[in-house]
Parts: sequence; C-alpha cells; structure tokens
Amino acid sequence: MPLDAPRSQTTLTSTARMKHLFDVRPRVSEPYPVLCGEGPVDALHSVWRPEWRQAVVVGDSNTAALFGKPLALRLRELGCEVLELEFPAGEPSKTRATKERLEDAMLAARIERGACIVAVGGGVVLDLAGFLAATYLRGIAHIHVATTLLAQVDAAIGGKTAVDTPFGKNLIGAFHHPRAVLLDQAALRSLPLVELRHGLAECVKHAVIRDEMLFKSLERLTSFDDPPSAELILRSVAVKVAIVAVDPLEHGERRSLNFGHTVAHAIEAATNHTTAHGAAVAIGMIIEARLAVMKGWLPKDALDRIVALLERIGLPVRAPCAFDAAAPFFAIDKKTSEGRIQCALPEQLGVFGAHDGQWTRSVTLAELLRAWT
Ligand code: GLY
Repeated sequence: MPLDAPRSQTTLTSTARMKHLFDVRPRVSEPYPVLCGEGPVDALHSVWRPEWRQAVVVGDSNTAALFGKPLALRLRELGCEVLELEFPAGEPSKTRATKERLEDAMLAARIERGACIVAVGGGVVLDLAGFLAATYLRGIAHIHVATTLLAQVDAAIGGKTAVDTPFGKNLIGAFHHPRAVLLDQAALRSLPLVELRHGLAECVKHAVIRDEMLFKSLERLTSFDDPPSAELILRSVAVKVAIVAVDPLEHGERRSLNFGHTVAHAIEAATNHTTAHGAAVAIGMIIEARLAVMKGWLPKDALDRIVALLERIGLPVRAPCAFDAAAPFFAIDKKTSEGRIQCALPEQLGVFGAHDGQWTRSVTLAELLRAWT
C-alpha cells in the first residue's frame, strides 16, 4: 500500500518486517517516516508514491549489487523505469566529480523532475545521493536506505547532504530532507566490526549530548562485537529526530550534534580522508571534551567516562596526525564565525548548554593545541 500521506506517531503502521517508528518533522519540509527492521524491499514498496514513475537507485561498489539490486527489481515490478548507478565505495568518491558523473548519467537517461532517487548505503552514499537529489533539476525526491550503523543513527536523518573538497569535508552541500528513511537491521549483520565501531561513536555522541540513560546503557554493554540492539539504535535515532524537529537548519540546538566534529573534520581533511569519520568523531569528542574540562566547562569525571567507553568500544582515542597538520582546516570549518573557531561542548553527560542560543563556544587554536594530547 503506497504511503500517500505521512503518518503521525499515534498511527504507526508496519510492513511485514519493518516497523514505522518515527516521523521526522523538520518544519522546513514535509514530515517523513523512519522505518526500522528487516525487509527493505517491502518497506520501500510501502512508502513508494504512485507519482514517482522513474527511480534512480544509487549505491556504491559495496551496496549496489547486494542491497540496491533487489530494490530496483521491486520498483521495476511496480512499473517504474529504473536507472541503477554505482560508484567506488569510500570517502574519496564523495566529490563534485562523482556527483557530476551521476548527474550526467541521469540527464542522458532523461530522468525527469517527478523521479525519486533511492540512496542505498552508508554515510558517503546518502550524503552524495542526497545532494544529487537536492540539485538535480533544482531538486527531486529521495529516499534513504541506510545499511551501516553510522548512517542509521546519523547520516540518514536530518537532511544534511554534501560532498567533500580539498579544502575540507562536507563544504559544498544543501539541506534536503528525504521522503522516507529505511533502517535495514539485517544489513548490520554483514557489516565489518570496524564499521560497527564507527557507528557506535555517533551513538556515544547522541548519549553525551542529550541522553545520559543511553550513555549508561552503552556503559553496561559487555561486548561491542555484534550489532547493537534495535532498542539502543532507536534511542540514538530518537535524539537526532528530536533535535532536527526543533532546529532543522542548524541555527541553534542542532549545533550540539557537532560535538567532536570540529576536530573530527580537521583530522579527516589533514589525513586526506584516510581516517574514517566514526574514528575521527571518537578522537574529536575526546579532544573537545578535554578542552571543555581545561576551561572548567565540563567535569573531569565526564571526560574520563567518555574516554573509557570509547576505549572499550575499540575506537581510537589519540589524534592520528600532528596538530600543525590539522590547524589550517579549523579556519575553513563551516562553524567558524568571524575567524573564531566554534566547538559544540557538553556541560555534563546528557546536558548541553544553549549559550545565548549559540549552542557552541569560541575556542582558540592555542587551546585546541593544549587539548590535542
Ligand atoms: N550529523 C550532524 C547533523 O546532522 O546535524
């Protein structure tokens, strides 16, 4: 049954194996459902709109055949004209050049404004395909099918789309919300352990900024070698959904989701994107939390618990590059304002201060240097 209108949270329904758990209500665009579970093919069918007569299924070299193909097959069965596009997996593909190649393929295939892009994969695929949807013919619909933990708890929700540039990460992009988000739990079972760890870094971030109980639940886990429970994932997703609802365009509270990211993006750029985003976020959270302790803004025991949890998860806790290599990238960070570096810093586990509506604090290069090691 096509989903003609978004459902409210009080009338949640499910496909055979995927449950409709949230509606994201970003105010700047129409609400959209988040479905979680197994069986993305049926779930895609359930959210597909009859007016989308063309589909563009975008995946990378890891996801296109494995997860994209069955979705494309079902869309063809529904009578859609389907174009399947693929690019090499990995952050180095998240560029304007890749986007241009995909755009040209869509133009050559005469994909029209009434089409819907189905992005299938992790953060790189969702960010890139979302940006493609944001600008193709001035904007078309898209759906996210998230197959990594990191994408499920973060990238799939909230409408941030972007590509990287040699000047830094995610510097060219747009806000463009998807029409539906499918979180494929079965896909997590095929995810390499290291990728699970990277996703857990974003779960820890959500716990630190807004949900101390989630932090405690993560601390209580005895093993991080299996995908986290659906309950834990949904708790993390709930943090993101709640923040996006009040501040979809990052004018205020959404900046709290950047905890760890000022340092993380600089590390990623300084290491030429060889440091994975989740690993960089783990290191970034530690350096930024250390800085907050140094400034007297965060109790030391909160820092100690963040470090201990990230270490137990198996995430890196030390910067992989010298401070001097990362320093130039702070100047071009999206949050830098009037030359001042902005960091989103928690005040306690689960508590973030609004700071006159800024939700960030100005810090200096010298302070970041002191927090680096
Ligand atoms: N990943 C942070 C945000 O979506 O705002």
